Amino acid sequence: MSPSQRTRGGRRAAGRTVSRLLADFGHDLPSVPTVQEATKEARLFRHASRRGPRRPGSGWAPAAAPVSSWRMTSDQAPVLWPFISTPGLPPTGAQMGIDMLSGGAFYADPHGWVLDDDVPVTNPNIFSFGKPGRGKSATTKAFCLRMTDFGYRILVLGDPKDEYEGLCRFFGVEPFAIGHGLPTRINPLAFGPLLQGWDQLDAAQAQGRAAVVFGRWLTLVRGLVGSQRIGEQRVPFGPTDEVVVKAALQTLTGYTHGQSHLTETTIPQLWQLLDKPTADLVATCRYADLRHFLDDTRLLRDALGQLVNGALAGLFDDHTTIDVDWSAPIQSLSLSRLEPLGDEAIGIALTCLNSWGRGMRERAVPGDLRVVVRDESWKQLRLGPEAVKSFDADLRLSRRDGDVQFAVAHKPSDLLSAGDTGSQAVAIAKDLLHLADVKILHGQDLGVARELENMLGLGPMARDLVTGWAMQGKGRALWCVGEQHYQVQTVLHPVERELTFTNQAIAGAA
Ligand SMILES: Nc1ncnc2c1ncn2[C@@H]1O[C@H](COP(=O)(O)OP(=O)(O)OP(=O)(O)O)[C@@H](O)[C@H]1O
Ligand SMILES: [Mg+2]
Repeated sequence: MSPSQRTRGGRRAAGRTVSRLLADFGHDLPSVPTVQEATKEARLFRHASRRGPRRPGSGWAPAAAPVSSWRMTSDQAPVLWPFISTPGLPPTGAQMGIDMLSGGAFYADPHGWVLDDDVPVTNPNIFSFGKPGRGKSATTKAFCLRMTDFGYRILVLGDPKDEYEGLCRFFGVEPFAIGHGLPTRINPLAFGPLLQGWDQLDAAQAQGRAAVVFGRWLTLVRGLVGSQRIGEQRVPFGPTDEVVVKAALQTLTGYTHGQSHLTETTIPQLWQLLDKPTADLVATCRYADLRHFLDDTRLLRDALGQLVNGALAGLFDDHTTIDVDWSAPIQSLSLSRLEPLGDEAIGIALTCLNSWGRGMRERAVPGDLRVVVRDESWKQLRLGPEAVKSFDADLRLSRRDGDVQFAVAHKPSDLLSAGDTGSQAVAIAKDLLHLADVKILHGQDLGVARELENMLGLGPMARDLVTGWAMQGKGRALWCVGEQHYQVQTVLHPVERELTFTNQAIAGAA
């Protein structure tokens, strides 16, 4: 009889089983663990057959794709399949050249980027850095030229090497030359388009416009006075100086007397009024008497006098003599004739032109898009904190008027030369970097590597590209568009190569 039969028969069912018996004596036999039934997790991905799911519109293929399987480590895989990334930026705007990481074309469209939420950029300004001769100006010119296809006009606010003249003539525009003995004068204290229709403004509107105009002039005068030196120090420009200059400018333009027709003034006229102030001006500025006024403003007057008789003389000391055609595709102001006067004189000229240009763009009509080029801007940035502030104010406007500000310098620390380490000037200069969300980094020497890291926060890979790859060819640059980096080679058309050729002197010597 088998044990199962015995159990079924019930003879032994009444008795104790072995385990029960042992349990009664305090010994528990280990029990068989109950196996939990495995539950399936919801599927994240559905497996499709090699021919695809057989449903309408599902991409089913009658024949299986000839797929071969490979097994390798993640170190080895990129050698066989370099996992090419897509360009990431939309193909709009100026086609600049090749994106070396994807092998595709690289397009620059600063305003388009600002409007596109997928591109981490909130302003259209561009800072371009690079060692001399690496192709900064050529890339700038190519960008400007190609943006004209999209309705942009070009404004070169100071061309210290006259290198934009070729581009101007290409468009059939004659550039303005500024230099001693030439008839061109630019008045940095010009009203610009804000003067139009001033007599029809109500009091509040006139006050609003006056705040803009006087604010711009004050920033300029502060930058100019602050560029002068007493020994190693720059001339300070404090709140008292600001009150005096503002009151003098209001007197000269007629704004103090509430005139509806304002008169344009010049820097020499400002200096003369400060030198021979009216009783009204002395009283407005709350000085006890004329002597008190003259003693207190001596430094300001002497700094202005130095400028009027020096760097500004014959250039920025009278009413504007040129009639700029703002509808032309390009306008440029050539400054090469100032070169013998030194970098400081060119820096002062750039300060005047930048402020004037800002005034001219103050009431740009919507849709009047412009690329405003500030080549060699490091010369202005070296003029001390006030000049940096002036540059900063000029650049800040871009979000309001729709201009693309394009500033060119040598290296990020150009901005630091405005002052001593840790000074306010340096803090302002560092802030200035944030005014441009797009930075083009052409080749730099290894010595600049650390500042690329400290000031621009470049990681080791990006830094090595700038000090290595970009140094091995002209027009190579790392484009930082917000936080994203693109390794770009600017490609020039033969015509552009001619227009951007700046090695005439070297070619002639060879
Ligand atoms: N992408 C390019 N392809 C071919 N040639 C180029 C390219 N970029 C620049 N060049 C040539 O290299 C030379 C120097 O370029 P460029 O004047 O733009 O340098 P730069 O960086 O502005 O120098 P600097 O700091 O002295 O102003 C020019 O003759 C220009 O034609
Ligand atoms: Mg250049």
